[in-house]
Amino acid sequence: MGLSYDLRMQGDWKRDPAFEKLLERACREEQKLLDDPAIGFTDLPETSAYIDMCDQMVNSLPAAIDTLIVLGIGGSALGTAMVLDAFPEKVKRTVRVIDNVDSAAVGAVLDTFHPRTSALAVVSKSGSTVEPLALFSIFYDRLVEELGVQQAISHCVLITDPESGALRQLAEEKSFPSLPVPRNVGGRFSVLTPVSLFPLMFAGIDAMQLVLGAAKEKREGQKRRCTGAVLDYMFMESGKSIKVVFPYSNRLKTFGDWYLQLFAESLGKRTDRSGRVIHSGQTAVVARGVTDQHSQLQLYCEGPDDKAYLFMKINNVPEVVVKDMFPGNAAFHTVKNHQLNEILEAELQGTMRSLESCRRPVVLMELEELDLQTVGRLIYLFEMQTAITGHLLNINPFDQPGVEEGKRIAKEILGRSE
Ligand code: PA5
Repeated sequence: MGLSYDLRMQGDWKRDPAFEKLLERACREEQKLLDDPAIGFTDLPETSAYIDMCDQMVNSLPAAIDTLIVLGIGGSALGTAMVLDAFPEKVKRTVRVIDNVDSAAVGAVLDTFHPRTSALAVVSKSGSTVEPLALFSIFYDRLVEELGVQQAISHCVLITDPESGALRQLAEEKSFPSLPVPRNVGGRFSVLTPVSLFPLMFAGIDAMQLVLGAAKEKREGQKRRCTGAVLDYMFMESGKSIKVVFPYSNRLKTFGDWYLQLFAESLGKRTDRSGRVIHSGQTAVVARGVTDQHSQLQLYCEGPDDKAYLFMKINNVPEVVVKDMFPGNAAFHTVKNHQLNEILEAELQGTMRSLESCRRPVVLMELEELDLQTVGRLIYLFEMQTAITGHLLNINPFDQPGVEEGKRIAKEILGRSE
């Protein structure tokens, strides 16, 4: 289990005198984040309390339950989805994440919903987000219809703020089983809380490995995250308005979606801390190697020079050999007797080198293997890196006024302004 960064930078970024100074500043900003009691995600790698709580909750569900429906959106859904999608072979019990109010998609889940064997995890830090509340009402109706109120309640777990919000109030009034989202941990930083730990542990995933990986990264990865933060900052300051995250792995596609949200909501801000209008942030785009080479690379090589590239590759993957099935056929000559991974690696090198030859900034991150501890490492690495970049930009990486405004307007349209 390991991670390494290879900064393949054209343009001598690392020799820029500003780089070293910014690196020192990034380390100081990290210390401020670690010391701030209002910032809770930094403490999560060092606690097993939420693992214990979730374990107890999983074990207290009625024995017949074999399926969990997760109702949440944004930071309340993406962390769970990213781990489930990275390790499909570790999933022993069905977990379905519903993060949209698309009636056709919800209808399809309802068609195969069996109240006796299903539980709901209703996830909302604020407890007032329209989408999970609507979905909860729909699925709870089905539970009540078949099981009656008392039993229906025992098939639900409300995961929300420990003290305030509509879901917390409901949990207390009606005695719904519940788990807390720590007050000082925001949605997109909440993977290592019951938000994702509970559904993942229900699925049979050893979530403690994520926490252990995050703890290792916290101990060992300061240089990596500070360097990453400085690069993100320098790219933004030099007009690279887009960050292309390019994992060469199907398993990391949803990881890219999780990172995209973390990066977008944390860094996209209208004003800095002094109130100056700066419109900070970079648009993250997820491309999946090799597939998206064949749809996006032309733009990346020859289109606008407004992007920075983060490639991610996994070194140890299963071996699949391409046999020589058509001897003498020239087209198959290139691929015969190669491992699939050699082909993937050649495509990755080809893509990076072609970008480098156009002087586009390329960063490569190598993962020794993709296991739960590595994903735990990535979670902490990218959360802390993003928070540090926010501090370098002098913005608040922990609020999301733009999202709140959208939520407020939607509620107003639905006739329930607050
Ligand atoms: O990261 C965030 O803060 C958001 O994406 C929220 O997770 C999302 O809007 C859902 O909010 P809540 O968990 O309060 O329902």
